[in-house]
Amino acid sequence: MISLSQLQKMKQQGEKIACLTAYDATLAHWVAEAGCEVILVGDSLGMVVQGHRTTLPVTVDEMVYHTQMVQRGNGHAWCIADLPFMSDADLPTVLQSASRLLKAGGANMVKLEGAERVLPMIVALSDLGVPVCGHLGLLPQSVLKNGYRVTGRDEASAQILLEQALAVEAAGAEMLVLECVPSPLAAKITEALSIPVIGIGSGAQTDGQVLVLTDMLGLTVGKAPKFSKNFLAEANSIQDALQAYVFAVKNAKFPSPEYEV
Ligand code: KIV
Repeated sequence: MISLSQLQKMKQQGEKIACLTAYDATLAHWVAEAGCEVILVGDSLGMVVQGHRTTLPVTVDEMVYHTQMVQRGNGHAWCIADLPFMSDADLPTVLQSASRLLKAGGANMVKLEGAERVLPMIVALSDLGVPVCGHLGLLPQSVLKNGYRVTGRDEASAQILLEQALAVEAAGAEMLVLECVPSPLAAKITEALSIPVIGIGSGAQTDGQVLVLTDMLGLTVGKAPKFSKNFLAEANSIQDALQAYVFAVKNAKFPSPEYEV
């Protein structure tokens, strides 16, 4: 299995990290087989698997169920599982939720959204030996309050985002997802941090990329996000599309400027 130290070494050596979401054993198998070093069992499953309008209804039990399936199919990729909405409401709850994702689900790392509020949780999880991935920028779990909006466009909010990223790293996070952050700011944050930064809709200069699997296979119901590309459109099979994505990420061909937010 890919280890955290291998991912850290990839950052140091400037080798791009390829990540996709997966929610079941078969697709997790092919995602890993295509060369993705990281699989994210995202709470996006609430929308793309369960058909909800947001990620909010997803439960820890459902995340455990999908993580178990993914880990049965996943050959070697590092597996991150999302802590779903309200499973990180307070310290005892987040410890219990993370414990279930690792012990019952078989995840290698948990991901949680936000900045100041989650810092003590990152410290506590990290102290217990739980690898943590932060998630800044657009926060799907806060959609009711903030909407799906790009953050960090002006100087003041860009500075806040940079400071939040540094704080997440200082708290003990071992990886960070940046969602819909302007490309120059994402590049600056990536350079400032020593942990791998994985971007989605955040330009090509992050240490790696992640996309929602259904988006990159052209299966989005409704309007596809501007930052996503349908890799199946120019491929002969799902396996070819996955390999084309990994090749494009590894060679910094994706995302090209047309996919920037
Ligand atoms: O849930 C998810 O799929 C995610 C990605 C959008 C990064 O968090």
